[in-house]
Amino acid sequence: MRKKIIAGNWKMNLTFDEGQKLTSEIVNMYKDEQVSDVTVVLNPPFPHLFPVKKLIGDTAGIFVGAQNCSDKDSGAYTGETSASIIASFGAQYVIIGHSERREYFKEDNELLALKVKKALENGLTPIFCCGESLEIREAGTHESNVKFQLTDSLFSLSAEEIQKVVIAYEPIWAIGTGKTASADQAQEMHQALRRHLASKYGKEVAAEISILYGGSMKPDNAKELLSKEDVDGGLIGGASLKSRDFIDIVKSY
Ligand code: 13P
Repeated sequence: MRKKIIAGNWKMNLTFDEGQKLTSEIVNMYKDEQVSDVTVVLNPPFPHLFPVKKLIGDTAGIFVGAQNCSDKDSGAYTGETSASIIASFGAQYVIIGHSERREYFKEDNELLALKVKKALENGLTPIFCCGESLEIREAGTHESNVKFQLTDSLFSLSAEEIQKVVIAYEPIWAIGTGKTASADQAQEMHQALRRHLASKYGKEVAAEISILYGGSMKPDNAKELLSKEDVDGGLIGGASLKSRDFIDIVKSY
């Protein structure tokens, strides 16, 4: 059975105190409001990883993840953080290939394939992001574009490895714009991605892979999006910075 996952991507937000406050609130609400079968992942900026992990403590169902990792193991790469360092601080997940990293840091499919491998080698679950720009959506080539991102970065993995990857479909035109994909648009793309995975790895393997939707998911649209058969959770930006909103999304499952 694939997991239901709601992951918060804090991006480059929140000071130490703000991060501690938000985490405490989320942990308390998660416990008090008995949210049981949804896996929650908090992905703060690097310096928060350890303190956030400490606050989560042994709360079952909540995990911490990074927003990026290096494609290298270790060495003279100033400013970079390796998957092994991330794992050593108790993180279990890492977002790889977010569209903001693709756009602002020129990360391409080939580099992302290396990062996914490093994450897996170090026992981290990669949350691999894919998604098309508005231009591509308007040209009608969104499906082939996103399939290509998967083929290029993930299809060198074995069947065993790919089952350890979480995929996040994040149409760029819906990120931070308040403009969400409709539930039908999301389902259409998630189904296409699952079929694409099945064409390479078989139906059974594809059925085990969680595919999250990301892009302006909020408490008022989460229920509809999450009700779709191939939508297995969400990767939340803005709304993950507000404990009430984030937990309400978790509870809309
Ligand atoms: P928003 O939820 O702010 O649109 O961000 C989505 C996102 O980029 C999550 O990674």
